[in-house]
Amino acid sequence: MTKIFAHRGASGHFPENTMLAFEKGIEAGAEADGIELDVQLTKDGRIVVIHDERLNRTTSLKGFVKDTAYDVIKTANAAAGHDQAYSDLKVPLLEDVLSWAVKKDFLINIELKNSVIRYEGMEEKVLEAVKRFNIEERVILSTFNHESVALCARLAPHIERAVLTADVLYQPDQYIASIPATGYHPKLNSPGATDEVLKKMRSSSIKVRPYTVNRPEDMKHLIELGADGMFTDFPAKAAALLKNE
Ligand code: G3P
Ligand code: CA
Repeated sequence: MTKIFAHRGASGHFPENTMLAFEKGIEAGAEADGIELDVQLTKDGRIVVIHDERLNRTTSLKGFVKDTAYDVIKTANAAAGHDQAYSDLKVPLLEDVLSWAVKKDFLINIELKNSVIRYEGMEEKVLEAVKRFNIEERVILSTFNHESVALCARLAPHIERAVLTADVLYQPDQYIASIPATGYHPKLNSPGATDEVLKKMRSSSIKVRPYTVNRPEDMKHLIELGADGMFTDFPAKAAALLKNE
């Protein structure tokens, strides 16, 4: 059965990467099998859940996350561009999400946002948090930085890892096995996510989970193809389609 991941939470309807969006992603009606979130490091080395390197698009602050201390970031509203009703939403720490998630049973895809800014030490910090909450079996680590996937493999071989890509990889099954990782997260409808490639990866026992799947016809197609998972901003829509399969 194809697993549904609420991409940045239920971000089609709620401010992305906020606790509200994550809660909405797994509540009744959406019932995602997991959530996906993005992490960056603050100036003082805290792991915050935010997609961009800069605060500008999603928060009330400006500037790079890496140049801003967490004490400042925690004062920001994390729902820039959204309704006033969301004015109390904050940028969560990874540990805020994990301390909530630990009481439940869904999967957590932590995307390390370290392919633009390298954030030395990010892998160790993320792994420390995952271990502290004893949540290793429910976590999938992914990043567009495949050196970082390999480092995670060395540091924590027991935690599932996936390669993110919007590009075409040469012999992707062999490439992924060489890292080693067990998941392939390609950009939907990219040349690296043709039916042929996805089927080949599945036949090599690599977990295939395309992103970001928001159109019902794409959701249906991936379900029929037997994709292991998909990332969507609209988990309720995907859950309804799955129920009708
Ligand atoms: O992890 C899948 C997807 O989230 C990767 O792209 O830009 O939405 O973080 P992006
Ligand atoms: Ca992401």
